[in-house]
Amino acid sequence: MRRLSLTSFLSLSAALHAATAAQNPCRCLYGDPSWPSQSEFAHLATQVSQPLIHPEPPAKPCYTSVNTSECVEVTNGWTDGNWRANQTGSMQSPNFETFTFPNGTVEECLLNTTLALPCGQGSVSAIGVDARSVGDIQAAVKFAAEHNLRVVVKNTGHDYCGRSAARGSFLVWTHNLKNITVHPSFTPAGAPINETFEYAITLGAGVQWHEAYAAANASGRTLVGGTSHGGSVGAAGGWLQGGGHSSLSASFGLGVDNVLEFSIVTSNGSYIVTNAHQYPDLFWALRGGGGGTFGVVISVTYRTRPTFPIMTVFLTATANTSTPNSGLSQAFTELVRITPQLTDQGWGGYAPFNNPTSNSTSFTVISIVPTISQDAAGQANATMTGYLVYLQELAANSTQSGNPADAVTLQGASTTSFASWYDWYTALWSTGEQEGIGLGAEVGSWLIPRDLVGSDHERVAQTLLSIPQAGWFMVAGGAVSNVTASDTGLNPAWRTAAAHVPFGFTWTEGTTLDEINALRDTLKSNIAKLRALAPESGAYLNEASLYEPDSAHSFFGSHYDQLRAIKAIYDPVDLFIVVEGVASNEWDGSLTCRKPT
Ligand SMILES: Cc1cc2nc3c(=O)[nH]c(=O)nc-3n(C[C@H](O)[C@H](O)[C@H](O)COP(=O)(O)OP(=O)(O)OC[C@H]3O[C@@H](n4cnc5c(N)ncnc54)[C@H](O)[C@@H]3O)c2cc1C
Ligand SMILES: *[C@@H]1O[C@H](CO)[C@@H](O)[C@H](O)[C@H]1NC(C)=O
Ligand SMILES: *[C@@H]1O[C@H](CO)[C@@H](O)[C@H](O)[C@H]1NC(C)=O
Ligand SMILES: *[C@@H]1O[C@H](CO)[C@@H](O)[C@H](O)[C@H]1NC(C)=O
Ligand SMILES: *[C@@H]1O[C@H](CO)[C@@H](O)[C@H](O)[C@H]1NC(C)=O
Ligand SMILES: *[C@@H]1O[C@H](CO)[C@@H](O)[C@H](O)[C@H]1NC(C)=O
Ligand SMILES: *[C@@H]1O[C@H](CO)[C@@H](O)[C@H](O)[C@H]1NC(C)=O
Ligand SMILES: *[C@@H]1O[C@H](CO)[C@@H](O)[C@H](O)[C@H]1NC(C)=O
Ligand SMILES: *[C@@H]1O[C@H](CO)[C@@H](O)[C@H](O)[C@H]1NC(C)=O
Ligand SMILES: *[C@@H]1O[C@H](CO)[C@@H](O)[C@H](O)[C@H]1NC(C)=O
Ligand SMILES: *[C@@H]1O[C@H](CO)[C@@H](O)[C@H](O)[C@H]1NC(C)=O
Ligand SMILES: *[C@@H]1O[C@H](CO)[C@@H](O)[C@H](O)[C@H]1NC(C)=O
Ligand SMILES: *[C@@H]1O[C@H](CO)[C@@H](O)[C@H](O)[C@H]1NC(C)=O
Repeated sequence: MRRLSLTSFLSLSAALHAATAAQNPCRCLYGDPSWPSQSEFAHLATQVSQPLIHPEPPAKPCYTSVNTSECVEVTNGWTDGNWRANQTGSMQSPNFETFTFPNGTVEECLLNTTLALPCGQGSVSAIGVDARSVGDIQAAVKFAAEHNLRVVVKNTGHDYCGRSAARGSFLVWTHNLKNITVHPSFTPAGAPINETFEYAITLGAGVQWHEAYAAANASGRTLVGGTSHGGSVGAAGGWLQGGGHSSLSASFGLGVDNVLEFSIVTSNGSYIVTNAHQYPDLFWALRGGGGGTFGVVISVTYRTRPTFPIMTVFLTATANTSTPNSGLSQAFTELVRITPQLTDQGWGGYAPFNNPTSNSTSFTVISIVPTISQDAAGQANATMTGYLVYLQELAANSTQSGNPADAVTLQGASTTSFASWYDWYTALWSTGEQEGIGLGAEVGSWLIPRDLVGSDHERVAQTLLSIPQAGWFMVAGGAVSNVTASDTGLNPAWRTAAAHVPFGFTWTEGTTLDEINALRDTLKSNIAKLRALAPESGAYLNEASLYEPDSAHSFFGSHYDQLRAIKAIYDPVDLFIVVEGVASNEWDGSLTCRKPT
């Protein structure tokens, strides 16, 4: 009989271990008897480039004393999205760091240390890898698969469903994968040599939008990317894999429409470069199938555009009422009516409104259009200027109507030009209040079909006006509708939408569970109102609620079955499962145990 060598014995036992793990219906969590031993973690530590990390809730240092320099740093950084992204244990919305036991007890760690005692780990991962290389990710993924751990991939922690946190989990932290490479000429792997793209840019998985934009601008190029004060959202993680909307989407498509290639480590630890020519099924799924689902993305290569001038509008219309037929209601209704025309001309942006907490109500239009060709610019200007003239007339009429409650005040109802998109971004978004960061937050959303806007824009506008703090996001239509729905894994509802409507609520520490539940009920009823307008449409999985009755349909539509089948090829052991993601409906509520089949 041949004797097994030590290495083949070790790999055989690892294979057996993995096979047993695959049969176990439950993941192994921190504290379970099957949790890896200290020596097993010590062995993992020898395979990765950085010491293992032990994430903690960010407020923990304040429980020693509020006057320590550590606590002062926490307090100063609390509402800064870039500071929070720098912390291993921090989510942007601290409610996702907490854990609620079945009996209703909440384990958490708050900045106001008198409100939660003692500080608890909550849903912050137990231990993890600070990945800096492909090898680090491969070691982490193999270790997690071998021990059947509950894996969390965390980038910036912006996820609105808490997908980058889970109690007792093992963390793969991608934040420090910060490589950026600009390729004067890029040919995707496996492509014919004449398939080249000028100035493509490869971003490591941890690059954030403010870093990506600066790098692109330094090469005289423009990226299609997300918007937030400080630019802390990840440029290559969940934003992209879930769709990725941008102020430039009406002109150049969504994030997923601008990817040339991904590199990724899948659940068996293999490193794959995927694009239209290699593993095209995986490439399709990564463009819309959601983050944390098909593997750990290492990098993304985007196409870029030259720098171009843009025309912009930043107006606010304010009144004391937005009831039907009021001036403000007419102003908003007209915007809804012309949105398909605006987005076809390349106008993109956001129209959030602020409904009465007092008797003042307003909506803001922040919109831009690239002015590359004179003809297109002239058309786009004519449509927007037509709307601005309409608003000025409406405002003048409303002050003459004799009903002061109806009077509409306008600010900034004119177009302005910027030499580049990045100049606009720098002026508006590079600094400023990072709204909602560091507060409890939940959101919901719905995609509003273009057909419905065409047939009944008034009903759409009235429904929106009945929802406090909603936004009419002009990030669909135009170039987004020009992409054939079957070309990417993305929810087909995006391709027929006129606009995306997100809304939500925030709360401060110390808000009681009853108060939060009341806000949740309002959120649910507002989602139901929008869903009733177009039940067959869907929602954007990156800005959506935890209460979707059928998330597979809302988030993936008719692409669900194909996404599920592709996941079975690249992640046959379901190592990567996230809240309301592909295959999550086969697991229990905490995503710890597979449901019996
Ligand atoms: C302030 C703010 C502004 C926003 N602005 C926009 C916007 O302009 N446009 C828009 O479309 N959305 C926007 N969003 C929503 C945003 O797209 C989501 O929050 C998204 O989840 C962020 O992805 P992330 O990688 O930064 O965050 P994370 O929370 O770290 O990750 C999100 C998900 O992706 C997974 N993931 C992360 N990295 C990887 C990786 N390398 N490989 C595999 N899976 C990974 C995680 O497991 C998780 O499931 C905004 C959100 C916030 C809070
Ligand atoms: C923290 O410092 C402030 C001001 O220096 C002081 O008033 C307070 O008592 C200190 N608190 C604690 C807990 O030490
Ligand atoms: C985040 O970390 C980076 C790298 O250490 C640092 O340069 C940056 O200032 C930090 N950001 C904040 C807001 O703390
Ligand atoms: C609720 O459950 C947790 C976890 O089992 C336990 O620690 C806590 O004491 C319980 N709280 C109450 C009020 O029963
Ligand atoms: C902490 O919460 C307590 C109780 O609600 C409140 O009295 C106190 O002012 C809060 N402290 C801070 C710093 O917000
Ligand atoms: C980042 O870039 C460096 C230098 O080019 C390279 O050695 C390294 O492998 C890259 N890291 C990743 C994760 O691609
Ligand atoms: C590349 O070359 C092939 C064969 O000569 C040709 O059919 C194809 O159209 C070319 N593609 C591009 C993008 O130029
Ligand atoms: C963007 O790049 C241009 C051209 O190099 C440069 O003049 C400009 O200062 C850059 N913008 C910012 C905000 O850095
Ligand atoms: C409500 O409206 C009246 C005028 O219609 C105004 O005088 C008052 O200041 C407003 N109140 C608030 C809180 O805005
Ligand atoms: C847009 O049109 C208006 C009205 O015709 C004109 O005054 C303005 O100069 C135009 N602006 C741009 C940027 O073309
Ligand atoms: C303003 O009033 C005039 C005169 O009544 C009317 O013709 C016009 O349509 C009104 N404009 C708007 C935008 O409501
Ligand atoms: C969409 O496609 C049509 C037809 O090819 C084209 O005329 C139009 O410019 C495209 N729109 C955008 C915004 O790319
Ligand atoms: C690992 O998975 C990849 C992608 O699914 C596959 O191509 C490869 O053959 C697998 N390797 C092993 C050793 O199973």
